[in-house]
Amino acid sequence: MTAVITQDVPLVDLRAQYATIRDEVRKAIDEVLESMQLTIGPNVRAFDEEFARYIGAKHAVGVGSGTDALQLAIRACGVSSGDEVITVSFTFFATVEAILYANARPILVEIDEETMLMDTSAVAAAITPRTKAIIPVHLYGRTVDLRPLRQIAQDRNITIIEDAAQAHGALLDDGKKAGNGGRVNCFSFYCSKNLGAYGEAGSITTNDDRLAEELRALREHGQSTRYYHPVVGYNARLDEIQAAILRIKLRKLPEWNARRREIARIYDRLLQGTGIRVPQIPPGERHVFYVYCIRVPGGRRDALRGFLADRGIGTQIHYPVPIHLQQSAEFLGYRKGDLPITERFADEVLSIPMYPELTDEQIDRVTTSIREFAKSH
Ligand SMILES: Cc1ncc(COP(=O)(O)O)c(C=O)c1O
Repeated sequence: MTAVITQDVPLVDLRAQYATIRDEVRKAIDEVLESMQLTIGPNVRAFDEEFARYIGAKHAVGVGSGTDALQLAIRACGVSSGDEVITVSFTFFATVEAILYANARPILVEIDEETMLMDTSAVAAAITPRTKAIIPVHLYGRTVDLRPLRQIAQDRNITIIEDAAQAHGALLDDGKKAGNGGRVNCFSFYCSKNLGAYGEAGSITTNDDRLAEELRALREHGQSTRYYHPVVGYNARLDEIQAAILRIKLRKLPEWNARRREIARIYDRLLQGTGIRVPQIPPGERHVFYVYCIRVPGGRRDALRGFLADRGIGTQIHYPVPIHLQQSAEFLGYRKGDLPITERFADEVLSIPMYPELTDEQIDRVTTSIREFAKSH
């Protein structure tokens, strides 16, 4: 009898994606190396234009990472020492790190039980005269409804900065893409993202000409022309090799996002009746499923994680410790119990394999294993 060899199912399989674009990527890298224009050059300029066009924004400014994007955006919006910036505790650490870089105070608010995103009523309650900005995070690829935030920010001179690091191509409530919702908006091209570089990269989008110019200066040591530095900036450049790779991948993004949404719908169907909470799928394209996150109540999350690991199925916890309970954030004065929904979700969430190249057989393996677990636990 021949043994059936079933492949493992990783959380993300970057090699599977690379196999589909290998020739194009190698050629593009080779061209950059032959030209030896390694930093801001033709590919960065072209990618900035192409990404702005894709997002539907007037400008995109490529930078070295999503964290750079947040740091520069916060600075360009005039946030400084003593200001307060409202965001969520249920996010990747960099959202809050970037606020701290500006010596501003992060005010961390609760998330909504259904969407797992910023609770806008909690934002309204957190506004003070020192509030300078609000950073909604489109976590997992699902966009925050910005309408109530705009209402809150209006007339108070509060800036909205989208953290769209996980939401390339996701639509906002007004039908525009994430990246148009705030005064400046931030993307990460970390390797595992829906649009991921083969190294570090990020981008800031804006419709404001003056801010775009300022951001372009900030990414290169604050220089206006070479070696003239009217302001102190950063080394936050996007490099030519990453830009050349991102240009290739950007062309595939709509197709890849569509497949992610298709996989989410299959998961949704096959995980019904297991007692495991699956994410809501909002209508249209408001979710691009950077992460497909299930919730496992009753203290069984880690058991399921182990059960899946034994069957060669990769998972991750996004994120196990909310920001307000991180050791480095102790000085902010938050305590356990301050954000109960956030804290409960940190104990329940589990991200299961999600990437466009996931095969139907792999999806079946994941869902069959989860159903098996649910029956026996
Ligand atoms: C929500 C969020 N914000 C910010 C970042 C920071 O991006 P980067 O890792 O590119 O610095 C990330 C990505 O890792 C993220 O997921």
